[in-house]
Amino acid sequence: MSVDVVYVGVDTLQKFMVDVFVGCGVPRADAEVCADVLITSDLRGIESHGIGRLKMYYDGIKKGLHKPVTEFEVIRETPTTAVVDGHNGMGHVIGVRSMQMAIEKARTFGMGSVAVRNSSHYGIAGYYALMAVKAGMIGMSFTNARPSVAPTFGVRPMLGTNPIAFGAPTDEECPFVYDAATSITQRGKIEVLEREEKPIPEGWVIDQNGKFTTDTKAALEGFPKDENALLPLGGLGELLGGHKGYGLGTMVEIFSASLSHNAFMHDLPGGGGLPVKIGHFFLAINIEHFCPLDEFKATTGAILRELRQSKKAPGATRIYTAGEKEYEMEKLVRAQGIPVNTNLQKDIKVMQTELGLTRYHFPF
Ligand SMILES: NC(=O)c1ccc[n+]([C@@H]2O[C@H](COP(=O)([O-])OP(=O)(O)OC[C@H]3O[C@@H](n4cnc5c(N)ncnc54)[C@H](O)[C@@H]3O)[C@@H](O)[C@H]2O)c1
Repeated sequence: MSVDVVYVGVDTLQKFMVDVFVGCGVPRADAEVCADVLITSDLRGIESHGIGRLKMYYDGIKKGLHKPVTEFEVIRETPTTAVVDGHNGMGHVIGVRSMQMAIEKARTFGMGSVAVRNSSHYGIAGYYALMAVKAGMIGMSFTNARPSVAPTFGVRPMLGTNPIAFGAPTDEECPFVYDAATSITQRGKIEVLEREEKPIPEGWVIDQNGKFTTDTKAALEGFPKDENALLPLGGLGELLGGHKGYGLGTMVEIFSASLSHNAFMHDLPGGGGLPVKIGHFFLAINIEHFCPLDEFKATTGAILRELRQSKKAPGATRIYTAGEKEYEMEKLVRAQGIPVNTNLQKDIKVMQTELGLTRYHFPF
């Protein structure tokens, strides 16, 4: 089957997402938050976590994996810290409210950190780091996820793809935003390959014999059954630093579970109608409590410029710093629209039909 792509306007898809969330019982203000996180992902060119994931949330609510109405409970609080119980509500809503709390604490006390338990999938970790950057602060965010990554020298998926997001403002328009999984790739990219009907590049996924597999569909079916595993950042074994990705993924698991007393690794339910119980961590650092913001921005900008202007490898045309590709992508996506391939078109049609959203006229 060929996988045709059509481009749909950002505003149309964002409104559609809001209506789908509302149709699932999410209050409108919360639905707008959820759609904003998803559309930001598409705008930044992170196709794995935007409109492509809408059906996952739609199905998740129907299956009872998370609740459409979010009950956000602060169960422990100090001037600089908080522990939140999300009561299995919408991860985006819980994430945004938690990062807002961290920013408010940092505004007054210099630092703010919030640990969250009983949440659900909150999308791109970078969204929350960017919230702090927009407030003139450093932001960090971590989340755990269902196991899909094997520890170094292991074959059973034990850790989630556990992303790290770090954002800092600079004296350039584009902030520094490092936002990536601690595995060599993340599950969402395997889902994108499945929708595009492409194989997995060798070196990303192993089977129970520790051998690489490139079968996309089999791998996605194999993760929950423990038959396949993604490799940590750095890849197989220690030679290329796989143990360092493994260490970082474990750090994220600790931040996401130990401080908030959340479920971890195989105790995160993988379906069957049980709530997903994901944990997150948010940190905001008020730069002004360390040095003048302008000074910080100038130093950070200088670091980034020096990196980008350093000697290039033969054949390379450009050295990037984190956040640049996504920043440039946003302009392109706003102009051309969001790519929607055949398989995603089918998902959109299902949600549109089931919710009776007849006022949308998609070009497919
Ligand atoms: N919620 C979850 O459970 C979950 C789990 C895993 C990943 N994610 C999200 O998935 C998204 C993608 O993750 P990923 O691991 O596929 O990311 P990735 O491998 O695409 O790496 C993205 C990061 O690397 C930077 N980058 C890319 N090319 C670069 C270059 N040449 N030089 C310097 N920096 C460069 C980007 O600016 C960005 O910060 C992230 O937004 C992440 O938060 C979410």
